[in-house]
Amino acid sequence: MMSLKEAIDTRISIRKFNDLPIEIDKLKEVNDLIKQYNEFPGIRFELINDKNAFSTFTESYGLFENVNTFIVAIRELDSDNSEEKLGYFGENLVLTAVANGLGTCWVGVRDDLIGLDYYDLIPDEYKNKKNPTVTLKDNEEICCLIALGNIDIEEEELKILSNKRGSKNYDELTYVTSYAPLEEEWFKNGIKAVLKAPSAFNMQPIRFVYDKNMVYAEIVNKQATMVDVDLGIAKLHFQIGAECGSWQWGNQGVFNK
Ligand SMILES: Cc1cc2nc3c(=O)[nH]c(=O)nc-3n(C[C@H](O)[C@H](O)[C@H](O)COP(=O)(O)O)c2cc1C
Repeated sequence: MMSLKEAIDTRISIRKFNDLPIEIDKLKEVNDLIKQYNEFPGIRFELINDKNAFSTFTESYGLFENVNTFIVAIRELDSDNSEEKLGYFGENLVLTAVANGLGTCWVGVRDDLIGLDYYDLIPDEYKNKKNPTVTLKDNEEICCLIALGNIDIEEEELKILSNKRGSKNYDELTYVTSYAPLEEEWFKNGIKAVLKAPSAFNMQPIRFVYDKNMVYAEIVNKQATMVDVDLGIAKLHFQIGAECGSWQWGNQGVFNK
């Protein structure tokens, strides 16, 4: 099985899946991680198998096909950095699914997306508290879904597609002061992995600042949709690419190498 680092090189958002059910083996690791993450306060994930959930979405939006399995990412409204944590741990679920040969796509379903054309097309039960499968507490909301499924694209082809995806360049994602050491492989590898990270509407709104001996991750476009989810995703990619360290939560959270 491929590593999470290899999964970063292979992952692209997949919206059309074949109609075969996912083999249970391929979901085992994802399931185990979900159990682990659900011990943390403020966030939780639920894995759902619902053949009909995306049917209206599919027909109207026209982009998603055969989404029968997906993860619902839920947060407590008053919990610190909970969206960022859903991004960070949710992307670990995404990369684990990719490493197991599955296709994935993040789907934003938060209330502040109301007004965007496609929002009305998402089935109501995944936008409000009347969901028949996911029971939400009063202080919870669904933040995102992660679609999962089987794809008929070979690994090599995925790598080619992944390299072709539109992305900002290295310099746009970094700010390195003259005081920072220049040729730091771990930092460069971290940024290279962030360049391949998913972000809502591909806005890539996070940059990484290297100042003296300190690296931190900063939101550059606070208006961007679901920017905190993107922050968590970008931080995870950086850490996997750098192959070391851990992050403080929050905007301008520091990387402890
Ligand atoms: C938080 C978040 C929400 C997203 N929401 C949607 C969505 O609602 N519909 C969709 O088709 N893609 C969605 N995406 C996928 C992005 O469009 C995609 O990651 C981006 O265009 C980069 O392409 P790539 O993932 O293939 O590298 C979302 C991604 C993120 C991170």
